[in-house]
Amino acid sequence: MKEDGDAAIEVRGLTKRFGDKTVVDDVSLRVPRGSVFGFLGPNGSGKTTCLRMICGLLEPTAGDGTCLGFDILSQRREIKREVGYMTQKFSLYEDLTVAENLAFVARVYEMPDARHLLQQTLERFDLAGRQRQLAGSLSGGWKQRLSLAACMLHQPRLLLLDEPTAGVDPKARRDFWEEIHQLAAEGLTVLVTTHYMDEAERCTHLAYLAYGKLLVQGDPTSLVQQSGLTTFNVTARESADLAVRLRALPGVDLVAAFGKGLHVCGRDAVALRAALDAVAHEGEVEVRPGRTSLEDVFIYLMGQTPDNFANPSSASIEKGGAS
Ligand SMILES: Nc1ncnc2c1ncn2[C@@H]1O[C@H](COP(=O)(O)OP(=O)(O)OP(=O)(O)O)[C@@H](O)[C@H]1O
Ligand SMILES: [Mg+2]
Repeated sequence: MKEDGDAAIEVRGLTKRFGDKTVVDDVSLRVPRGSVFGFLGPNGSGKTTCLRMICGLLEPTAGDGTCLGFDILSQRREIKREVGYMTQKFSLYEDLTVAENLAFVARVYEMPDARHLLQQTLERFDLAGRQRQLAGSLSGGWKQRLSLAACMLHQPRLLLLDEPTAGVDPKARRDFWEEIHQLAAEGLTVLVTTHYMDEAERCTHLAYLAYGKLLVQGDPTSLVQQSGLTTFNVTARESADLAVRLRALPGVDLVAAFGKGLHVCGRDAVALRAALDAVAHEGEVEVRPGRTSLEDVFIYLMGQTPDNFANPSSASIEKGGAS
C-alpha cells in the first residue's frame, strides 16, 4: 500500500463520460488527511459521480489516483473496505429496526466482532434507546444519525457524505456537524457535498465544481482571496430599485441582498469604487467597505458558469478568474 504523504485522496484528470456526455471533466483533487473537505456545485455538476469514482464504485473513463493510498483503478475492493459512504438518499431498510439495520451492515462487511461493535456504535451515536424502533418510523434527523452510524460501523478511515443534511432541521444539522468535526478530530478524513453556505464555512477545505469542471479548490480564506472580488456594503433609505440600478453600473459584477443592505462586488476595484461613489453622491445611499463572503464568491462563480440544465455540449465554462 502506498500512502501518499498527507493526502487521503489524490486524483488527477478524473473524467467520466456517459455516452457522449462528459459529466466529470479532468478533475484533479487533493484531500488532505484529517480534513473536512466540502464539495460544492450546482445540481448535476458531477459531485456524486466524483465521489463514486473516488470510492471505487464507478470506473472513471480517464484519470488516475489514490484513495487512502490505494489505486482507484486496481484496488477498488481495498478502498471500499476502508471507506464509509453515506449516499444522497438514506439507504436504510425501513421495515427493520435500528439495531437490525446495523446488524445487516455488519454482515455485509463480514465483521468478526459484530455484536460488540454494534453495541459500541449504538452508544456512540446515541441510538441505544431507539434500537428496537423501526427505521421507517424515525424522524429525518434520527434517520440521518442511523445512516451515519451505519457507515461508521466498519471503522472506516475516510467518510464520503453525499448531501447528508438535506431536508434535516437546523438543530439536527448543527448536531450532525458537531459529530463530523469530532470524527475529524479523531483522525478521520471527511469529504462532504453540500448546498448550504453555513456548512461550507465549517469546512477546512473546499472545492467548487460546475459542469463537471473543478473551478476552484482551497481553504475558505484562500478561496475568497483567489476570487479577486472587492465588496462594498450599500444601504439606502429607498432601496426598492437600488439592486437593479447597481447591477447596470460598470465594475459591478454581483449584487446580493444581505439583511437590510446589499453586498456589491466586483473584480475591478477601481471601477467599482468609482461607480459607487457616483451613486453615493446622488445622496440617500451609504457605501461602506465590506468583506467578501464565501457566499458572494459562490454566487459569483455560479453566475460565471452556464445553466447546468442548458444544452451541456454547447456550453463553455469560464474560469471566472478565480482558479
Ligand atoms: N449512470 C448515469 N448515466 C447517465 N448519466 C448520468 C449517470 N449518473 C449521472 N449522470 C448525469 O451526470 C451528471 C452529473 O450527475 P451527479 O449526480 O454526479 O451530479 P451532482 O453534482 O451530484 O448533482 P446534485 O447536486 O443534484 O446531487 C448529471 O447530468 C446526471 O444526469
Ligand atoms: Mg449528487
